Amino acid sequence: MVDKIAAIVKEAGQMVRSAQDIGAHTHTKTSDADLVTDYDVAVEQFLRRELLSLLPEAVFYGEEGEKAPDPTRGWAFIVDPIDGTTNFVRGIRQSAISVALAKDGDLRWGVVYDPGKEELFTAERGCGAFLNGRPIHVSARPLAKGIFIMGTAIYRREYLRPTMELATALFARSCDFRRLGSAALDLCYVACGRGELFFEYSLCPWDFAAGALLIEEAGGRVSTMAGTPLRLDRRCSVWASNAENFSLLAELPVERNLL
Ligand code: IPD
Ligand code: CA
Ligand code: CA
Repeated sequence: MVDKIAAIVKEAGQMVRSAQDIGAHTHTKTSDADLVTDYDVAVEQFLRRELLSLLPEAVFYGEEGEKAPDPTRGWAFIVDPIDGTTNFVRGIRQSAISVALAKDGDLRWGVVYDPGKEELFTAERGCGAFLNGRPIHVSARPLAKGIFIMGTAIYRREYLRPTMELATALFARSCDFRRLGSAALDLCYVACGRGELFFEYSLCPWDFAAGALLIEEAGGRVSTMAGTPLRLDRRCSVWASNAENFSLLAELPVERNLL
């Protein structure tokens, strides 16, 4: 299954790589911070058609189109056609196609593909995590010798204060941080040891579903910032790290109940 999903996702990656005149194909959704391009929509339509023909009994829960009412019942594809749309629009090569396949709310397969760098992250529940076919593992570094990656909950501007408070506290305990602009890739980067920890308030299931499985299969841990399992049917905060740093969650100024 993972190879079949990956083949479809790589074909979609070709659509992203060959995109032309992206600015003329960009539209705002709810605000100037919330962009969609015609490529996001076209990639999602392609993925919907191809993935559902792979597994016709599955439902489709994608960012840009009609969503299945409940992605936690039966088989469900959870899809972000382009995660990192602002990067894509601005010519910053840090975007990904993210596809997860879940059964009754349990993530079974995850594929995240960065078409710019041709990096394919894959995971299957119980079978490990891989980057371009090679096994990957979270790092063993304590945060004091490492970096954290964060997102800024751009659709909930009122979450800026708790986000920055947490970033300040983590910065004091780490070497540095990154804000890279694609939550799906942020999670994969922790999964392969490029960073030690990731957090963001208010992500959607299509942002984190595949990346969360990558984290777990790479030996890391992931939860909401309330310490509860991630929800696949609504927004939630995400805290993900290697084994060494997961328990820091209890020691930091975290707003546990923000969705
Ligand atoms: C966004 C990216 C970004 C994160 C936002 C997401 P999009 O996804 O993952 O890193 O900070 O919260 O919405 O809109 O580019 O698919
Ligand atoms: Ca996204
Ligand atoms: Ca998106």
